[in-house]
Amino acid sequence: MKENIKAGLIGHPIGHSLSPLIHNHWMERYGLSGLYQSVDIAPENLGSAVAQMAEDGYAGFNITLPYKREIITLCDSVDETAQQIGAVNTVVVNEDGALHGLNTDSFGFAENLLQASEDTDLKGATALVLGAGGAARGVIHGLLSIGAGDIKIANRTREKAEEIARVFPVQVVPWEERESAARDVSLLVNTTSLGMEGQGPLEFDMRHLPKSAAVCDIVYRPLETELLREAKERGNSVVTGIGMLLHQARPAFWEWFGVMPEVDDDLQQKILEALS
Ligand code: ATR
Repeated sequence: MKENIKAGLIGHPIGHSLSPLIHNHWMERYGLSGLYQSVDIAPENLGSAVAQMAEDGYAGFNITLPYKREIITLCDSVDETAQQIGAVNTVVVNEDGALHGLNTDSFGFAENLLQASEDTDLKGATALVLGAGGAARGVIHGLLSIGAGDIKIANRTREKAEEIARVFPVQVVPWEERESAARDVSLLVNTTSLGMEGQGPLEFDMRHLPKSAAVCDIVYRPLETELLREAKERGNSVVTGIGMLLHQARPAFWEWFGVMPEVDDDLQQKILEALS
């Protein structure tokens, strides 16, 4: 069994990330010795700080804003999922010190959705994705991995949605037509930052959305966004954003610690307390 594993999260500013709580919970639960800590790195130091972490024996680290794209240039290899998404959120330091980049957002989204849907077969599901940032790419990759058929994407800045449509088989719909585009979908996913604490509201009239559709929000501060509250009120099933965060951490933990961890009730409780 691996001992005294060092892992962490890099970003700038690092803020109040939940990742240390998640990974330290799992270390305790699985009886592993090690440390997961947040490391704030100023932009001008990114290359040297990352090289130093590899030198210091880190097994790897997660990457948050603003480095999810830039880190690719520092990786010696990048897996296919991360290449398609165009962002790396997890780095594994190989024994020879080489950096291998992964993206676990797709897994996190898909796994959370499958669990929330109680493993209902989502093959052929149709989806409307709102937003075209890095998060949207992870979500779309995840939707395709579970066999979603017809995926529509709407973004305020149309060109960013068009860019995604050049990489993934999705159909771009104008932002102004997002509400009517929800007419025949089985999943509605918000990947914009709208609805997050401190951001504007996501204005979305759900009258066209089938009541049988599931509504997912990747925003988790607040835990229940206005979109999810409204969806619940009209009888749609909802999938909160916190699950994606928890599940995307699992493959990273596996890579560094050699154990595929579970999202258990204790962890969910700790996260709810941290967010309240
Ligand atoms: P992330 O990598 O987390 O997805 P991002 O790349 O900053 O973050 O993307 C934020 C998303 O929220 C984008 O789709 C953005 O739309 P634009 O591409 O038009 O900027 C969307 N967004 C943010 N504020 C918005 C607003 N006021 N109205 C509509 N969309 C908004």
